[in-house]
Amino acid sequence: MSRPAAGAGRPGAEDPPSHRASWRASGTTRRSASLNASGTTHREGGQIADWLPLRPDLAGRTAYGAPQIDVPVRLNTNENPYGPSAGLVRAIADAVAGVAGRLNRYPDRDAVALRTDLAAYLGHGLSWRQVWAANGSNEVIQQLLLAFGGPGRSALGFEPSYSMHPLTARATATAWLSGARDGDFGLDPGRAVQAIRDQRPELVFLTSPNNPTGGALPLAVIEAVCDAAPGMVVVDEAYAEFARDGTPSALALLPRYRRLVISRTMSKAFALAGARVGYLAADPAVIEALLLVRLPYHLSAVTQAVARAALAHAAEPLATVQALRAERDRLVDWLRGQGLAVADSDANFVLFGEFGDAHAIWQALLERGVLIRETGPPGWLRVTAGTPAEMDAFRDALLPVLAGASEEARP
Ligand SMILES: Cc1ncc(COP(=O)(O)O)c(C=O)c1O
Repeated sequence: MSRPAAGAGRPGAEDPPSHRASWRASGTTRRSASLNASGTTHREGGQIADWLPLRPDLAGRTAYGAPQIDVPVRLNTNENPYGPSAGLVRAIADAVAGVAGRLNRYPDRDAVALRTDLAAYLGHGLSWRQVWAANGSNEVIQQLLLAFGGPGRSALGFEPSYSMHPLTARATATAWLSGARDGDFGLDPGRAVQAIRDQRPELVFLTSPNNPTGGALPLAVIEAVCDAAPGMVVVDEAYAEFARDGTPSALALLPRYRRLVISRTMSKAFALAGARVGYLAADPAVIEALLLVRLPYHLSAVTQAVARAALAHAAEPLATVQALRAERDRLVDWLRGQGLAVADSDANFVLFGEFGDAHAIWQALLERGVLIRETGPPGWLRVTAGTPAEMDAFRDALLPVLAGASEEARP
């Protein structure tokens, strides 16, 4: 296994000391933490002014807002902790320089070269006509909902799952239908099929590996859903590269199901969250339909160049996937060793619990400089797999938190 470049992405490696020194999360509440912290660029869940002629169906809604707090150890948004090596930084900079002289022109609005590279990366005999790209898989999902959802239509998902699926559904005026995962966070195909037959949604979302619970779905569940669904089936595979050995991708099912879409991202395995590149694989007819709703020239020439440079050096970020899978597995074992409940994970994060007061545990970790995520079912917390040093910091922080936790907070 090749290791990530030495020093790349170490905690705080890129932060000037003055920036980090101003971290002061101690004594904050969940909400004020994001307001007080230095480096925070937005706040969570602000009130919308009542004098605005907002769409009535958006009234009272809360914006997406994972806290962006400048703490020493950030394990809350499932980013890849390994920044690009000096060599890859140079390749990216060269790629940007290569398009900079043509920025007076609009980019290739169909991003054919990038789609060709992505198709080659995905394999499965895919051609560029079966691959589409946008600004993060969040935009891919938005385009799918714009094209196939909308007023009078519905989308069904099985929760707990990725919180942006319902939020984007609502933003596109698509009714959100919430199905439930099983007690062990799996999805029984019989129940899924029944929910589809009862509600006949235009879109079904399956997240595999699932965020925040971590497990991947067996292909048999996806097949059962595809057989029953009257409309589009979207399998969100944002974390596919982190899956345990022997976990197949839904890409294998594409030749059999014309209304199946698999969405992927370069934010996680490719360590490119800042560049905003997501993509999907589907029948070319699906992509033709997406052209109706995409904005003209939606993917900048700079973004396309950066993504292509990263794909040309795929071996480097993909080596970090191996390192993170190993850290994840070590973390699962360690948390279980502490007597905690831990969900099996095929992703770069782990869901653990069950706490009487998960917020108290989250807060106590934050006060020790470790930011994880309050998400998922009540009593559970999610921690992203980081570098070995970050994982040591997490373990070192959690032990006294568990030892000092009040009776109510403890598992
Ligand atoms: C399941 C899932 N899908 C999609 C995304 C969005 O990723 P991006 O828009 O960065 O591609 C995320 C981000 O965390 C995710 O967890």
